[in-house]
Amino acid sequence: MELIHFKNINMFYQNICALRDVNLTIKKGDYVNITGPNGGGKTTLLKMITGMVKPSSGNISMKKDLKIGYVPQHTLFDRWFPIKVKDVAMMGMLNKPKKYFHQFTEEEVKKTEEVMDCLNILTIQDAQITGLSGGQLQKVLFARAVLTNPDLLVLDEPTSNLDSESKDMMNTYLDKISKEVTIVKVTHEENISGSVNKRVYVSQDVKVNAAAGRK
Ligand SMILES: Nc1ncnc2c1ncn2[C@@H]1O[C@H](COP(=O)(O)OP(=O)(O)O)[C@@H](O)[C@H]1O
Ligand SMILES: [Mg+2]
Repeated sequence: MELIHFKNINMFYQNICALRDVNLTIKKGDYVNITGPNGGGKTTLLKMITGMVKPSSGNISMKKDLKIGYVPQHTLFDRWFPIKVKDVAMMGMLNKPKKYFHQFTEEEVKKTEEVMDCLNILTIQDAQITGLSGGQLQKVLFARAVLTNPDLLVLDEPTSNLDSESKDMMNTYLDKISKEVTIVKVTHEENISGSVNKRVYVSQDVKVNAAAGRK
């Protein structure tokens, strides 16, 4: 089943070309790995998937009501806000419509702990976010996005601040959930997971043309 289709997409910021002639199809079950040089347009492409940026020309079609979990490359928020790690992760599950009060179920708490354990952040669940390292914060924000229970997980360099052990843990976890959720991930990592079924190179110098999928 087709989730997203980019047809002849071009993107200019004023006179700067960010994307040139991109054709891309993302199907349900895909695990897409996007690479390319700095400034190649990778983040712009992800922002188009999430609808934050509209193309200068071309056409994007998306499956109706597609639930997207997005972890941006850079997240701006008040790091001094007094909130615990686990509560930030659990915020992902507050995306239920028309609810002003939500009592987390045992199942939701269990799911949160399971995700946090896979990323080795369960041990810091009661820490305040203020004191976290960049890598720890990256893992917490990733957990929050996963806990939104998305159809499509859009990740912009999710391992950029992680040590090698954490990178392995996250990649193993992504392999595991790739059976249930469609993944689009930007990365500079050389070793790409066996579950990745589509590789896309994004740069203004090459035409992006990726149509093959596994489902
Ligand atoms: N909001 C913006 N305003 C102006 N230029 C931008 C903006 N966002 C990105 N660009 C430019 O578009 C190009 C692609 O950027 P980006 O999508 O962030 O690339 P990547 O994520 O591959 O490093 C770069 O030349 C960048 O400077
Ligand atoms: Mg980027």
